[in-house]
Amino acid sequence: MSPLTGEAFGEVLVRWQKRHGRQSLPWQHTGDAYKVWLSEVMLQQTQVTTVLGYYTRFLQAYPTVSDLAAAPEQDVMQLWAGLGYYTRARNLHACAKQVVARFDGQFPRTVSELESLPGIGQSTAGAIASLAYGVPAPILDGNVKRVFCRYYGIEGYPEQTTIKKTLWEIADANVPAQQPGVYNQALMDLGATCCVPRNPSCSACPLMQSCVALGKGMVGLLPTPKPKKARPELYFVSLIVEDEGGGVLLELQTDKGVWQGLWTTPFEACDSQPDFAGLTRIATAWVEHYGLQAHRADIEQQLPGLQGQPWLVHELTHRKMHFKVLRLKVPGAWAACHSVGDKPVPKIVHKLLDQVRVLTQAAVPQQNTLDLR
Ligand code: ADE
Repeated sequence: MSPLTGEAFGEVLVRWQKRHGRQSLPWQHTGDAYKVWLSEVMLQQTQVTTVLGYYTRFLQAYPTVSDLAAAPEQDVMQLWAGLGYYTRARNLHACAKQVVARFDGQFPRTVSELESLPGIGQSTAGAIASLAYGVPAPILDGNVKRVFCRYYGIEGYPEQTTIKKTLWEIADANVPAQQPGVYNQALMDLGATCCVPRNPSCSACPLMQSCVALGKGMVGLLPTPKPKKARPELYFVSLIVEDEGGGVLLELQTDKGVWQGLWTTPFEACDSQPDFAGLTRIATAWVEHYGLQAHRADIEQQLPGLQGQPWLVHELTHRKMHFKVLRLKVPGAWAACHSVGDKPVPKIVHKLLDQVRVLTQAAVPQQNTLDLR
């Protein structure tokens, strides 16, 4: 059965809300826009059970929007304390003042006027207009997005512009002329009690027979989660110089970057498939920079083999780093070399050193990458 739209969709939900939806929340059935607004702002980022106590205390302190508008800001913040997202409290107070100043203490009835007030976005405006005044205005909060994404089988992250546009079009097309408040409450109740993020109760859902996600076995995949940022893969060659005193050539990283303030073996970025010329350029620069002319031949002789050397992999949360190493032993004790135990050295340098020392002893492993974790 293909998914329902428009009036047919609305009818199913309205019928379900009357039998199975929430009926006795204190802001329901009041027709009081102040109470609906207060509850909607509190419910924007907070669960019903937490909101109940705050809502009651707020109404005791400020029975009307004029009382709230006249209250000292500090008192309002004090009553809000613990609910979090304090911009909501500041906007709440500012909104109350504007309702008094611009609308004579009466919340406006149109979505566009409601949206012009602080802290009221399109969805909250739709909720107030429909729940308090019976205006057929759509809502689209996080719960409703989830219901629509699943029911219509909409793939893609719901906050993405194109997906959001599609969802608003559906919200617009489905809102019924009759009982839009009950319908919107049904959508919110369905999202909060039945079509919940994990382990939804599909067998109790009034839309079960025509739900696209359920039919395709995609309930667990929708809505599509926020895309993870691609983790950059970075490639480096590092120079490991060891002297006979057990020291390693280390330099302080002074530039801003992941290793600023730490001491590392010299390293240079390269391509994922570095060519011989590129590796030669890096090696030549190191020879000049560190005064390693006496060891030029030793270094150059490693370059052909470096291309076939497996990458040593270092995985961080936001990047994946790959290393190849050029290795050199110098006689005596060299002033540029330090004991790695004496300096702040990042984990990767310890791993590189451990790994090259192991590689010296053992046969080179056959795998292409070595996991250094
Ligand atoms: N979440 C947002 N608005 C709500 C409402 N009116 N009832 C229950 N939960 C909600």
